Amino acid sequence: MMSRRRLFAVAAGALVAVGGGAAAFLLTREPHAARAPWDPAAVADLPDDARLRALALAILAPNPHNRQPWLFELVGDDTIAVYCDLDRRLPETDPFDRQITIGFGCFLELLAMAAAADGYAAEIMLFPEGEPQPRLDGRPVAVVRFARIGAPPPDPLFGHLRDRRSNKEPFDMTRPVPAEALAALVAAAPDLTRASAAPDLVDALRALTFRAFEIEAATPRTHLESIRLLRIGKAEIEASPDGIDIGGAVPELLATAGLLTREAAADPTSTAFAQTTAMYREIMHTGMAYAWLVTPGNTRADQLAAGRAWVRVNLAAAATGLSAHPVSQALQEYPEMQGEAQALTTLLGVPADATRVQMLARIGYGPTVPPSPRWPVETRMRPA
Ligand SMILES: Cc1cc2nc3c(=O)[nH]c(=O)nc-3n(C[C@H](O)[C@H](O)[C@H](O)COP(=O)(O)O)c2cc1C
Repeated sequence: MMSRRRLFAVAAGALVAVGGGAAAFLLTREPHAARAPWDPAAVADLPDDARLRALALAILAPNPHNRQPWLFELVGDDTIAVYCDLDRRLPETDPFDRQITIGFGCFLELLAMAAAADGYAAEIMLFPEGEPQPRLDGRPVAVVRFARIGAPPPDPLFGHLRDRRSNKEPFDMTRPVPAEALAALVAAAPDLTRASAAPDLVDALRALTFRAFEIEAATPRTHLESIRLLRIGKAEIEASPDGIDIGGAVPELLATAGLLTREAAADPTSTAFAQTTAMYREIMHTGMAYAWLVTPGNTRADQLAAGRAWVRVNLAAAATGLSAHPVSQALQEYPEMQGEAQALTTLLGVPADATRVQMLARIGYGPTVPPSPRWPVETRMRPA
């Protein structure tokens, strides 16, 4: 939770102190087990059931704070019931479960793509027992029936399943985003997606997304929601492969030295808090273009459609070598954010009716980042 420069300076000192064991320590800090679900072996080792194979790929979907709120039931021999684990929602920053529902949309799109690549049509019934409002409840989010189709229709986006990332690093300020690359993102889900690299809009969105970050951080209940989800270092990430993972040798050395703690990160007067803010100021000001998704209303079906569109845009970014980073703070529905939420819709020219901006993402060229942790598919099953 410090700027990278300072992180490395402190870590270098810690490494000198650790001495000869340092290299060995550095080599063992990658949370390999937490990333195992990204390995093709995770699918190859499953029992022979097309539903399980597709689920094992759908759980690689982007989802808010990597909470992975999905639970599955295998029903009969061709159907999956998908539920929300209600304890995995984000009540402070996502009071109406809108973003959690978008994550389910991302999941369902990957499920359909994975089924198709395996020769099955996934017939998806959304909220078959009704749309829960104002929050999700114990009713199924979707029931999905697998029906055999002959030859799988090719979907080039699906080939990027394993290199899709939410890239949370600063982007390269020397590399503008070419118009054709931005157009490829929009083309992945043209009905809902808009994008722009117009300099005035980019400047305004950089400033707005950072202000929104500051509001979330300055509002204790929303900030603490994130702090509670920090997983610092390999042992914590592997014990709970979800939430906000801060992995690698440097954070772990800092944590061991007592310089990186949840308490410090939570305290607005701490150095760690000031350094985190400085880090996000930098990150938020390196957006080189923005993409956003707009739905005609804000029903659960709209939110699921936004999720299905978002994962396609994110896959298209991977396909074109672009990085994409959702920056959702200004879209959130708690009272302290409403000024920025209003400013955002004005800036994007979204009409002030039921139309809803569901996603906003920073686009550019970022460094290569590893895949994020996942719970293995078998841990998300519940008995039928
Ligand atoms: C609806 C939604 C909102 C998100 N908002 C943010 C955000 O505000 N900031 C952020 O860093 N990532 C955001 N993300 C990305 C998730 O943190 C990310 O998908 C998750 O950590 C898993 O990582 P992966 O996408 O690289 O697999 C969002 C994702 C979704 C689906």
